[in-house]
Amino acid sequence: MLDIQKSAAAMPAIEPATIHREDYRPPAWFVPGVDLDFQLGLEKTIVRSKLDVRRSKSAKFEEPLLLNGDDITPVSVKVDGAVRTDWKLVDGDMELPLTGAAHLVEIEVELDPSTNTQLMGLYASNGMLCTQCEAEGFRRITFLPDRPDVLSRYQVRMEGDKSLFPILLCNGDKVQEGEGDDGRHWVQWNDPWPKPSYLFALVAGDLVANKDSFTTRSGKPVELNIWVRDGDLDRTDHAMQALKDSMLWDEQVYGREYDLGLFNIVAVSDFNMGAMENKGLNVFNSRYILADPEVATDADFDGIEGVVAHEYFHNWSGNRVTCRDWFQLSLKEGFTVYRDQSFSADMGSAALKRIEDVRILRAAQFPEDSGPLAHPIRPESYQEISNFYTATVYNKGAEVIRMMATMLGAEQFRQGTDLYFDRHDGEAATCENFVAAMEEGGNIDFSQFRRWYSTPGTPRVSAKLHHDPQTGIATLDVKQMLTTGGGKPAPSEMVIPLRTALLDPETGAHDGEHLLILDRAEQSFTFEGQKDHPILSINRNFSAPIVMENDRTSEELAFLSAHDDDPFARFEAMQQLMTGYLTAQVSGTPGDRDIILHAVGAVLADEDMDRAFKAELVLLPSEAFLGDQMAEVDPQAIYDARERLRGKIAVQFERKFRRLYNQCVPEIFSLSADARADRRLRNVTLGYLAASHVEDAAELAYEQYRNADNMTAMQGALAVLTNMDCPERKIAFEDFYKRFKDNALVVDKWFTMQAVSQRSDALKRIEALSRHPDFTLANPNRVRALYGAFTGNQVRFHDVSGKGYGLIADIVIELDKQNPQTAARFIPPLGRWRRYERERSELMRLALEKIAAQPDLSKDVSEQVHKSLA
Ligand code: BES
Ligand code: ZN
Repeated sequence: MLDIQKSAAAMPAIEPATIHREDYRPPAWFVPGVDLDFQLGLEKTIVRSKLDVRRSKSAKFEEPLLLNGDDITPVSVKVDGAVRTDWKLVDGDMELPLTGAAHLVEIEVELDPSTNTQLMGLYASNGMLCTQCEAEGFRRITFLPDRPDVLSRYQVRMEGDKSLFPILLCNGDKVQEGEGDDGRHWVQWNDPWPKPSYLFALVAGDLVANKDSFTTRSGKPVELNIWVRDGDLDRTDHAMQALKDSMLWDEQVYGREYDLGLFNIVAVSDFNMGAMENKGLNVFNSRYILADPEVATDADFDGIEGVVAHEYFHNWSGNRVTCRDWFQLSLKEGFTVYRDQSFSADMGSAALKRIEDVRILRAAQFPEDSGPLAHPIRPESYQEISNFYTATVYNKGAEVIRMMATMLGAEQFRQGTDLYFDRHDGEAATCENFVAAMEEGGNIDFSQFRRWYSTPGTPRVSAKLHHDPQTGIATLDVKQMLTTGGGKPAPSEMVIPLRTALLDPETGAHDGEHLLILDRAEQSFTFEGQKDHPILSINRNFSAPIVMENDRTSEELAFLSAHDDDPFARFEAMQQLMTGYLTAQVSGTPGDRDIILHAVGAVLADEDMDRAFKAELVLLPSEAFLGDQMAEVDPQAIYDARERLRGKIAVQFERKFRRLYNQCVPEIFSLSADARADRRLRNVTLGYLAASHVEDAAELAYEQYRNADNMTAMQGALAVLTNMDCPERKIAFEDFYKRFKDNALVVDKWFTMQAVSQRSDALKRIEALSRHPDFTLANPNRVRALYGAFTGNQVRFHDVSGKGYGLIADIVIELDKQNPQTAARFIPPLGRWRRYERERSELMRLALEKIAAQPDLSKDVSEQVHKSLA
């Protein structure tokens, strides 16, 4: 009987079932207490669970107990002490008929972590054991109602070989430990806070800790540990500082204190995602913990600060208040991204942070929202929830929270979040709960605003400003449109808060910002007392995640780029100016290049401007962003037009770039804003010097590489050399590898810097790199370093031969057999086939068809590939 059940569990479903949001039903059984015993081993781990199960009062009496399972079989099942054999496995899940209202269920499961290549559930990484349970990984460890609205108190005993696993970690507080005389030892953990199974974690390994402490504002001491492998310890200080800063910030800004005496972070090298917020035991991809200036760039340092903060902030927005079901994912992720963005803005430059966040939104979320995988921030259905950890749920989700904060103002927003946390503490909540708390706490009506939760697509807004010199009245006519389901844009009625100012055309001054709230398809706003025709500054600080149609003249944009007092708006004006010109170039319409040169010249000449900001202003919009602005994308034409403009700017201002380059020579290394600004501007100017094709460009880059005492400068030099045809390129890349071959995170950079090369031999190089001894499909960071970077390489991934598409299709097919979650992440770049010019479009579709034709595709890949072809 057991054998039959086993094969049934292993059999893949023919057509993955679709789960619908509207089908949500509360659980029939609750599990207030979970007691786990782990006998740990890399190849054999025994898990014994005791579940205190209680029938819900609202459940039908006959409902059996449903315990989720995935790829596991029970060794034994007991109920109230008696062995049971009347359970069955349906699609991996255990159905156990139970009659009473409360029982003790005991189950034993045996696992082999060493063969777990999916990195979900309990797996081995570099000789240690660790877990990843979100979203549905717990069911690969043992049987349980693995859904976020079932909250349990966990008591966990871990036992293992002391020499293999000297450190045994789990959620909550350590309550007891002991040693056997057989070389084994054990630790007993108790987490007092009820939590869903997705927040469970354990780690066993040979680790050392950076130890520190934090005292909460109510005076409670918290022990802080960052656990890493021996040798990595001196790269953990930045993460520790970020953790302490986050703890303080959440007290000061949201009034939220930490709630345990211990906070552990563990860095692991094999991890599907960035990091995970398990209660009291965050598990991190090592790339978001380990840093020192020699091996990490300034961007890496920022990434660490942001991710450490993000996972810490989940302790309230995610753990204390969790999600009722996975359709509510944006409740914790969107809100927490908004929180980590605000934190990073407070720690550094708010303007630079906003520019970066909008870049990410436009690069990752806008394309998603206009492609076959578009979904609202609260999806209506899914086949595999792992596919919905998307830029839409995360980054657009954060923008939706930001709009609420903008409309409420700081004080009301805080009253709203206070009410939300107080009302739902200890609960599994919904997005609707959040909005309702915001409405009540902040005293506002969000009924129409709620559409952001159910509407996919990026609204397009056009705004035209008219001025009547007789009356001194300026009238702003605004329209909004939305494209859904691949059709033509239609008038829409989203609530869109637009921070707006009217600038004096002589001085650039204005008499205050207005918050315009669009809530109809067409609206007009009037402004009195305008002597001259003002210049429109709109969607300042990117107050709404929309596309502003470019209704302003190049002259107005150039004016804004020089005079707007909102730094984001200044950046945006420059981007729009360049985008308008470049998209016109691609479609063969002439444009005014001189006005761009003039605007860039003004920025370069501005001695008072912050150097980091200057660097952002003179950068051209990315090829991907330009493509996204066009109905039909021709990556080669975009590349050519962009390179022409870059070359022209470079030649025109070569002397200026060289002067800036030489002025930005950093003295001793520091992470100060000034020193970072110097490094940023130096890399940007180096890029322009290379684009000007001055004779000494390769030499300059190589010298920068050789003399660098930090990774930011090194990577900046390699980023230039990788595109060049010169002996220095080969020498530098070989030297870099030799120097850093023992540091996996830097070897990842070495792969990436080659995968983004725009040289015509890039494809061949990538094929060679895929056979490099250091390349492995088993490590997600390495796979992303090579192939993830390559899919972002517009001109080479989209090589008209179609070889780039073939490469990605093959990697999806191979990787899907061992790690479906990571494999599925490579489908979206192919999924945008409808947007490309005919030849490429067909080749992309064929690559998708090839994947679709494989037998035994995972749910993850199957969902993404079929939706992309539909
Ligand atoms: N809860 C997620 C981690 C996660 C995502 C687990 C998907 C399982 C499936 C975590 O809080 C998170 O969002 N991490 C991000 C980084 C963050 C800074 C946006 C990640 O891992 O990319
Ligand atoms: Zn998160």
